[in-house]
Amino acid sequence: MRIDIITVLPNLLDSPFNHSIIKRAQQNGQVEIYVHNLRDYSTNKHKNVDDYAFSGEAGMVMMIEPIDKAIETLKSERHYDEIIYTSPDGIKYNQREANKLATLENIIILCGHYKGIDQRIRDHLITMEISIGDYVLTGGELAAAVIVDSVVRLIPGAISDEVSALTDSFQDNLLAPPVYTRPSDYKGWKVPEILLSGDSKKIEQWKEDQSMERTRRLRPDLLEE
Ligand code: ADE
Repeated sequence: MRIDIITVLPNLLDSPFNHSIIKRAQQNGQVEIYVHNLRDYSTNKHKNVDDYAFSGEAGMVMMIEPIDKAIETLKSERHYDEIIYTSPDGIKYNQREANKLATLENIIILCGHYKGIDQRIRDHLITMEISIGDYVLTGGELAAAVIVDSVVRLIPGAISDEVSALTDSFQDNLLAPPVYTRPSDYKGWKVPEILLSGDSKKIEQWKEDQSMERTRRLRPDLLEE
């Protein structure tokens, strides 16, 4: 899979992709992640990428031309399955959307900023808008990092323990059961007896029951979906 991110703040994305699973997935060739500085596509001598809104409202709007040039340059090199814009207006991101994105070959993520982007970019170039939640961030970079992280860990082989992505919370609309490690007794805080029993059938049943109980108690909305 290849992910191209277009942003005015490329340095903000230096760190999130250079650790742990996401770093290893790149080193192993399971994913290629490229961060492009939108200013490199500005034709203006000050490298501006934003301008005043025609509607006169406060706040700058990201200009059409640098974004069009950046996207066109990438599209001239390969086909993209989705061109995503991160915005609070988008569809609410969840595990189902992450699963779908993880099956794609090439995606572009355009990070929003300022007051937003010229609507014509959304009308003509963007194929999908994603919001990571009902709150407003200062820019789309952190949303892009969230999307990339959630997608890359689903790419086969990215997580060494293959089953662990499948048993995540949300993978079957259930929260994951609680987990414990040694010591089995810390200051009198004990691990549930059943986990020490060695009876794998009973442990499986316990995990299922815990998943269901936690989901009912903490996220009943997931059971209604
Ligand atoms: N940009 C600003 N807020 C955002 C959000 N909630 N999700 C995605 N992109 C955003």
